[in-house]
Amino acid sequence: MILAAGLGTRMKSARTKMLHPVCGRPLICWSVATAREVGANPAVAVLGHQRDEVEAAVAARFGEGAIQVAVQSEQKGTGHAVMCGLERLQAQPDDRTVVILSGDAPLFRADRVKELVDACERSESGMALVSARVAPPNAYGRLVRQADGRLARIVENKDASDDERSIDEINAGFYAVRLGLLRQHIAGLSADNAQGELYLTDIAAAVAERGGAAVIEVPFSEIQGVNDRVDLAGVEASARRRINRDWMKRGVSFANPDDAHIDVDVVAIGEDTWIGPGVCVRGASRIGREVRIDAGSVVTDSEIGDGVLVKPYTVLTEARVGDRVQMGPFAHARPQTRIDEDAKVGNFVETKKTHIMAGAKASHLSYLGDASIGAGANIGAGTITCNYDGFGKHRTVIEADVFIGSDTQLVAPVTVHKGAYVGAGSTVTRDVPGASLALTRVKQVNVEGWADRFREAQSKRKKGS
Ligand code: UD1
Ligand code: MG
Repeated sequence: MILAAGLGTRMKSARTKMLHPVCGRPLICWSVATAREVGANPAVAVLGHQRDEVEAAVAARFGEGAIQVAVQSEQKGTGHAVMCGLERLQAQPDDRTVVILSGDAPLFRADRVKELVDACERSESGMALVSARVAPPNAYGRLVRQADGRLARIVENKDASDDERSIDEINAGFYAVRLGLLRQHIAGLSADNAQGELYLTDIAAAVAERGGAAVIEVPFSEIQGVNDRVDLAGVEASARRRINRDWMKRGVSFANPDDAHIDVDVVAIGEDTWIGPGVCVRGASRIGREVRIDAGSVVTDSEIGDGVLVKPYTVLTEARVGDRVQMGPFAHARPQTRIDEDAKVGNFVETKKTHIMAGAKASHLSYLGDASIGAGANIGAGTITCNYDGFGKHRTVIEADVFIGSDTQLVAPVTVHKGAYVGAGSTVTRDVPGASLALTRVKQVNVEGWADRFREAQSKRKKGS
């Protein structure tokens, strides 16, 4: 059961906290991913603020029906949220164990959930929870222990005495409870506290006489919660460290792992790939083996083959790049760009809805939109496909082994057939037959001696004046 109904007032945002991303994944989807990883069945999310948007974010990532939604329309505390969630668990027997996750703490891992469930099932009290040590504990609830070490109760920061505030053992906000026990105690919660809320944490006191809830202590970095944007940045940094570490263990090198932003949902990065400083790999990108992605490049929802060289400050969005391609520096591959193996796209080349086939080259300063570039073709510097006529977009087809001279405009729709040449500085408005030469510029005129005569006339004029 994921508690995620709160707005997160301290975020100072029009959007609920649950929709703020951490390493490219909305907060809510982190807990849902954990619930799915441990095979929670059913997985219930208690939603309130902007519940339609939160539900849509979950559906976009995991598909419709990935979670069951319980609605908490008024946020009367974590105890009340669980009360709402229990309505979705009515069909479940009392001896099942329910795990409760705080939706605002995304880094709690699936293996810890299993540990927590084990601790609960072993404990006489029928409850287990997670603690961490923090100094200073600030806004967290504190674990108050009995003289024999058993957990007596949890006291919220706002309700704590000075002595209790000095306790550095805090409640992380993750619980495993026998369902029957939860049903029994949830009804007895009272809002007689500093915040006038029903505290889930009061259940710890209710089970104290049965031996007390079992406690597992974990490092703070695993339970760090997001209450404001400072926390959000801290959690993102912890998540980034974990993600990049995982890739390093799988054979990926980083120039600086603290300064490479790999979204958590990136699908693959192959062995011996090197990620330069300031690189961002976003969305569901896949990157092959022995790839070099140099400084400042941004790869979003793209596929990159093996042995590709992405030079600095290259931007790829929804692009597919084949093996051994070279790109950049400063290349811009926009959506529906496909670049086949061994092709080259150089500096200041922009592509969109364009297929560049094997071994073709566009090395400098070009716009290639709505185009197909045949295998082995050479696109000269400054070539532009004029794909837009003010009303619609039209295609340019350049067949295999064509040579387009520098500073050519191709006014679409137009086709340059196989093996043809287009002379530099041409404006091509009609199809070019295969193996021919197209030239559209005016014929060159050389006027012998003109420059000398011109200079002479100018200097005479200057002296005369
Ligand atoms: C809670 C705990 C505190 C613990 C801390 C850990 C209680 C009373 N306190 O405090 O002991 O140290 O988490 O992070 O449980 N939520 C709802 N409905 C509500 C209220 C909250 O769904 O009516 C959800 C929030 O969206 C959030 C989670 O429950 O995801 C925790 O709520 P929050 O208000 O952040 O509780 P804390 O003050 O952090
Ligand atoms: Mg919180």
